[in-house]
Amino acid sequence: MRSDPAALVEVAVQVGREAADLVRGTRSTAVSSVDTKSTITDVVTAADRASERLVRDRLARLRPGEPVLGEEEGGAVVEGLTWVVDPIDGTVNYLYGIPHYAVSIAAQVDGVSVAAAVLEPASGRVWTAAAGGGAWLDGRRLAVSEASRLDVALLGYGFAYRAERRQRQARAWAGLAARVRDIRRTGAASLDLCAVAAGQLDAYAEHGLGRWDWAGGALLAREAGAVVLLPGEAPELGADATFAAAPGIADDLVAALVEAGFGEV
Ligand code: IPD
Ligand code: CA
Repeated sequence: MRSDPAALVEVAVQVGREAADLVRGTRSTAVSSVDTKSTITDVVTAADRASERLVRDRLARLRPGEPVLGEEEGGAVVEGLTWVVDPIDGTVNYLYGIPHYAVSIAAQVDGVSVAAAVLEPASGRVWTAAAGGGAWLDGRRLAVSEASRLDVALLGYGFAYRAERRQRQARAWAGLAARVRDIRRTGAASLDLCAVAAGQLDAYAEHGLGRWDWAGGALLAREAGAVVLLPGEAPELGADATFAAAPGIADDLVAALVEAGFGEV
């Protein structure tokens, strides 16, 4: 069984395609079976659960014995290889019929992403990355933007599900809004990170992501040349911040976020 990053990407794409087909094909019925998780706005549909079940089944067959951490069934990151799965990233978009959601499958070694596939069921687009092998969208190599000025940078961001934290986050982002070109909240963290990889956003930052939200997209961003800071790596931005930016604006953006109070939300 090959375990080099390219081989792991192949597995992630193969399994992810099946999950993406299931997620797309079952939307009309899945959205009538909705439960809530951490808060009343944090939802899980029948398709989130079915997608994770399918991914786990297929991985067990293709990669017997390798541990899986998934958003809906849990698990842990262990020493060596772990598969990290978000069966639907952007569940609220999925629920509302906004076609911006993804299945994200990453392989991590000792907690570091080495292979990733982020698949968009609605469009069929497939984003991939292998450590040292670049970031790709449907066979096209990706590179981050050449942004060098914060005042004309386009940023992505997201909110946590808890209302009080969301309020504090909104205040911090409001402080930043006048200092940049504009800000986008698209509702799928994995795809925000892919957008940084493709130069469709100059940067992205958010607090409180789960490992499954960032494990795939962060590898794409890094392989495309972004400065990537993962939860725990940039205490000045807060203990659970995820950050990805084109290198030309990364330092200025970190400073601006700190000034806006991003580190205290
Ligand atoms: C959510 C999305 C959203 C982000 C939230 C995530 P989910 O993931 O990625 O964009 O702002 O923090 O939890 O719940 O749809 O898998
Ligand atoms: Ca999810």
